[in-house]
Amino acid sequence: MYYLCVIKGDGIGPEVISQSLLLLEEIDCKFNITEVLAGYQCYLDHGTPLPDETVKKSKQADAILFGAVTTPPNIENYFSPIVRLRKLLDLYANVRPFFSLPISVSRKNINFVIVRENTEDLYIGREKLTKIGAEAVRIITRKACERIIRFAFELSIKQKRKKITVVHKANILRLTDGLFIKVAEEVHRIYPKIEMDYMLVDSCTLNLVRKPEIFDVIVTTNMFGDILSDEAAGLVGGLGIAASANLGNHRALFEPVHGSAPKYQGKNTVNPLATFFSVCFMLDYLGEAEKSRVLKEAIFDVIKKRTVTADLGGQAKTSEVTKAVIKSYRNIYDHH
Ligand code: NAI
Ligand code: MG
Repeated sequence: MYYLCVIKGDGIGPEVISQSLLLLEEIDCKFNITEVLAGYQCYLDHGTPLPDETVKKSKQADAILFGAVTTPPNIENYFSPIVRLRKLLDLYANVRPFFSLPISVSRKNINFVIVRENTEDLYIGREKLTKIGAEAVRIITRKACERIIRFAFELSIKQKRKKITVVHKANILRLTDGLFIKVAEEVHRIYPKIEMDYMLVDSCTLNLVRKPEIFDVIVTTNMFGDILSDEAAGLVGGLGIAASANLGNHRALFEPVHGSAPKYQGKNTVNPLATFFSVCFMLDYLGEAEKSRVLKEAIFDVIKKRTVTADLGGQAKTSEVTKAVIKSYRNIYDHH
């Protein structure tokens, strides 16, 4: 029995999560599911985007499945509940795998993972107005560098990957990113069998477009990782398929990379596959490797058959994609 905490959120969040719950019923891993609230609607209803109850239940869960939240830019003292939750649960590694899909909008020969530091950098939200404009504080600690780089090496071993690219801007950010690459060099000594190289972040954005097949594992600081992962999503089919895991030492939150896309709310047109792939990673994390593998195969099968939403060039509705994935999952599973 797994204790699963579900946060639907705003916009298309509730849609993609509801579809995933249908999928989980089919997968039948004996989930004990609790739904808790977070997001802008939650703020309007309860005065906070992240109630204590949500944090408490999340801390007790074996895994959390998160949809997406709307973060309005103009409310004073508002905070992004997902950014806060990652921090409170100490989910220090944001892991986003990118792989080619059997569809024309996806580039070929892509198979890499972005490992993004998830707790500090410019995202700590320490900004203030000054006489001449505004300023933001960038925090990079040795502890956070060390554990994210170690994490990247451990992931490389587990997934039999061969090369880690440390992405940085140490030529300009000499102290902060300077520390990041220095720690990378130190940690590399513990894992000499895995190759490691360095790349400036601007050069990385170009290489991702020009020769994405050279990448295996990218490890980087929070903001660079955020930006690079949207670029990487663009290589393989867009935000409609990009999934992520937020991992700590004993906790894990799985979510699509996309946001709440409010324009598309309630239209039954958005792509649920980003969330389904997140479910895949969640199953794998929980130790259900076989079910995870079958689900991935089922999703690939549905993509090959072109039962896909408009963002992937198809005509299927959200719910039709779900039905097709469930059917394919059942077929593959029965033929085992
Ligand atoms: P977004 O990811 O919500 O949407 C950007 C565009 O990507 C959409 O207009 C749509 O064309 C496409 N898209 C996104 N998800 C899709 C899906 N499942 N299927 C098909 N196409 C999809 O980003 P945007 O518009 O910048 O932000 C909207 C809201 O979401 C904002 O309030 C923002 O703060 C929030 N946000 C929340 C995140 C989270 O909860 N983790 C992450 C990113 C943004
Ligand atoms: Mg982002």
